[in-house]
Amino acid sequence: MIPEVGLGTWKYAGGEAPLRRGIELGAFLIDTAEMYRNEDRVGQAINGLRDQVFLATKVLGSNLRRDQVLRAAETSLRLLNVDQIDLYQIHWSNPSVPIKETMGAMAELVDNGSVKHVGVSNFSKRELQEAQEAMPNVPIVSNQVLYHLKRRDIERELLPYCQENGVTVMAYTPLADSSLTANSRLRRDGRLETLEQVATETGKTMAQVALNWCTSHPNVMVIPKSNSVDRTVENCGASGWRLSSEQIAALDNVYSP
Ligand SMILES: NC(=O)c1ccc[n+]([C@@H]2O[C@H](COP(=O)([O-])OP(=O)(O)OC[C@H]3O[C@@H](n4cnc5c(N)ncnc54)[C@H](OP(=O)(O)O)[C@@H]3O)[C@@H](O)[C@H]2O)c1
Repeated sequence: MIPEVGLGTWKYAGGEAPLRRGIELGAFLIDTAEMYRNEDRVGQAINGLRDQVFLATKVLGSNLRRDQVLRAAETSLRLLNVDQIDLYQIHWSNPSVPIKETMGAMAELVDNGSVKHVGVSNFSKRELQEAQEAMPNVPIVSNQVLYHLKRRDIERELLPYCQENGVTVMAYTPLADSSLTANSRLRRDGRLETLEQVATETGKTMAQVALNWCTSHPNVMVIPKSNSVDRTVENCGASGWRLSSEQIAALDNVYSP
């Protein structure tokens, strides 16, 4: 089981406190990547809490040859200072490496216990299908993709496919890098007013409404990033309640795909 709100760490510079507070509040999935160059800091932040945390990291799309994948996983384990990665994701696809080779390496990591679950990121429906076919004995449990009120491209094809096939969609940049809640163009065209109105109705903040809108879709979880304890607490408060179908419809209407 994973929480519907986790903790992103791209450009994270908050030290230990926001991550530890988030874990305390139930956002126990932490997402990092070899690209973020912060796996060592994430490892330090969860010191003493390993058994309470679901650790997700990623191998670079430019490191997808078998030996590169195995080496990258070894480095991530060392930097994170753990014995096992809970979710190892392919950061993006790479057509210059046969998918069979990459998925074979991922399966090896599962077999030798370095990795518990395999996921992908930025994969289209077709890429996801091909990756799964190339690794028939290990399920691909997640696809981490861009998803927020203003970017709803996955609703056409990828999201329905993931929902039908039990693949978790990990929505990245779910606050649109904070532009959802502070953007004058959105105010001019009325979209911000709708978000504000739903926030007032629910007694939640606009960020909480935006995150809850994502998780109102089956199989979708969010991984907002914040350097601050207060905003981490706010983001965790996006979980444990539901927007009404009328509120979702109002948001869908002004943020149409
Ligand atoms: N797989 C991929 O290719 C990929 C790509 C992009 C991101 N990701 C993952 O997804 C995570 C989240 O995406 P992201 O960091 O790009 O964007 P995001 O979470 O949508 O937005 C982060 C920005 O929003 C601000 N913020 C956080 N909470 C807020 C709140 N309650 N109200 C207003 N502003 C708030 C943050 O500022 P403060 O820090 O100052 O609070 C930061 O500037 C990343 O950290 C990373 O783990 C993955």
